[in-house]
Amino acid sequence: MKKVLVLLIVVMGWISISFTEKTNLDKKPWNAPDNFKKMKSPLTDAAAAAADGKVLWNTHCKSCHGAKGLGDGSKATQLETEPGDFSKADTQAQPDGSLFYKTTEGRDDMPSFKKKIPDEDDRWALVAFIRTLKK
Ligand code: HEC
Repeated sequence: MKKVLVLLIVVMGWISISFTEKTNLDKKPWNAPDNFKKMKSPLTDAAAAAADGKVLWNTHCKSCHGAKGLGDGSKATQLETEPGDFSKADTQAQPDGSLFYKTTEGRDDMPSFKKKIPDEDDRWALVAFIRTLKK
């Protein structure tokens, strides 16, 4: 009898976990407008830009996206939407201008950084840093 009870508790626990677990299936597509997609970074020294971007990343982005952009920051589990894995093609295949647009404007759980990081060059530096996260 005890065994049955334990089994029942395990099964019920599993059912409740699978219902509350976030699924990525309904992740909404997010496209940057064409005028942004075509934008080119004004920063010519990519390595220097990425180094600047890293400092900003650790202050503003790491809590959700994680140090290496894997989507495993300390706040990630509290979000409604998954931040995604920036080492993968989903993110890396996007043009610089799209990543710049998304960093600038945000959407839902992804904050807008237009005011928090007002200097456009700083936001471009973040894009340069995101490029270094590619695996
Ligand atoms: C509060 C948590 C949070 C913080 C802080 C945050 N992000 Fe995000 N970010 C998200 C979430 C969640 C998404 C997915 C949004 C969606 O799909 O609707 C996202 C998506 C993105 C995307 C789009 C990725 C793609 O593949 O389309 C970029 C680019 C991005 N974030 C850059 C940044 C940068 C740069 C910073 C720091 C300046 C930052 N984020 C800070 C939560 C965060």
